[in-house]
Amino acid sequence: MTEHCQQTTHYPSLVGKRVFITGGGTGIGAEMVRRFALQGALVTFVDMAETPSVELARELSQYNVRFEQCDLRDIAHLQSIIQQTGREQGPIGVLINNAADDTRHNIDEVTVEYWDDRLAVNLRPSFFAAQAVSEQMKQINGGSIINMGSASWRIKQSCMPAYTSAKAAIEGMSRSLASAYGQHNIRVNTLVPGWVMTKRQMSHWLDPEVVETVKQQQCIHQTLKPAHIVNAALFLAADDSSMMTAQTLTIDAGWT
Ligand SMILES: NC(=O)c1ccc[n+]([C@@H]2O[C@H](COP(=O)([O-])OP(=O)(O)OC[C@H]3O[C@@H](n4cnc5c(N)ncnc54)[C@H](O)[C@@H]3O)[C@@H](O)[C@H]2O)c1
Repeated sequence: MTEHCQQTTHYPSLVGKRVFITGGGTGIGAEMVRRFALQGALVTFVDMAETPSVELARELSQYNVRFEQCDLRDIAHLQSIIQQTGREQGPIGVLINNAADDTRHNIDEVTVEYWDDRLAVNLRPSFFAAQAVSEQMKQINGGSIINMGSASWRIKQSCMPAYTSAKAAIEGMSRSLASAYGQHNIRVNTLVPGWVMTKRQMSHWLDPEVVETVKQQQCIHQTLKPAHIVNAALFLAADDSSMMTAQTLTIDAGWT
C-alpha cells in the first residue's frame, strides 16, 4: 500500500458497512477503496479499467473488497451490479459516485454525440446509481451518498465544457436528491476536490510549472493528494456527519 493510505481516524460506524464506489480502479477512487477497506467496510468497486482494478483487488485481498468491471455508460449493467451486490452482501449503506473522465475538448469541436457521451460518463450514472441504491438504503433506514464534484467550473476552466457542465449539475442533483431522500434518513452531499495530483493528472495535464502555479494560487501552498479528499469522504460516509445533507464540502486548500 502507499504511504498515503495510513489510517488516521477510525470510524466505528463504517465497520461492516457495505460501500459501493464507482471508478475505484485508479486515482482518488483507488485510495477510497483502500481506506474504506482499512476501516473494516465491505467494499465493492466498479471501473471500466480492468488491469489496475484487478491489481488493486489483489493488493487488498486480505480485506473485504470486490471488483466488478462495468462501463458506467451501460446503466442497465450498473443497476444489475448494484442489485446483485445488495443480494449477496446485504444492503448498500454508502455510495460514492466517483468515476469521471476529464478528457479535454475544444468548444468548437463538440458534437451532439460527444456531448451526450460526456454526460453519459460524468453525470448520468450518478443519478441512476443513487436511484438504485436508495431502494437498499430504505431497507436499512438510512445511508450516505457522496457525489464527486469539481472545482474546475468554479475557476471557469474552458478546456472541457461538457465535463464542467456535468460537474456543476452534480451539485444541483445532490441537493434535489437530498430533499427527496431525507425522509428515509438518506443523506446526499457533494465532495469537491481542488486540483489533486494523481498519476493521471501528472501525466496528462500537469508539468512542474503548473503544479507550482496552482500551489501559489491556493491559500495553503502545498500539493493536494488523494488522501486529503478521502479523509473527507470517510467523514461524509460515517455517522459522525449524520445531520449533514444537501451540502457541498470543498477540499481545495483554499484554491477557489
Ligand atoms: N484529480 C483531480 O484533480 C480532481 C479535481 C476535481 C474533481 N475530481 C473528481 O474526483 C473524482 C476522481 O478523480 P480522479 O482524478 O481520481 O479521476 P481518474 O481519471 O484518475 O479516475 C477515474 C476512474 O474512473 C474510471 N472511469 C472513467 N470512465 C468510466 C466509465 N465510463 N465507466 C467506468 N469507469 C470509468 C477510470 O477508469 C478511472 O479508474 C472524479 O469525479 C473527478 O471528476 C478530481
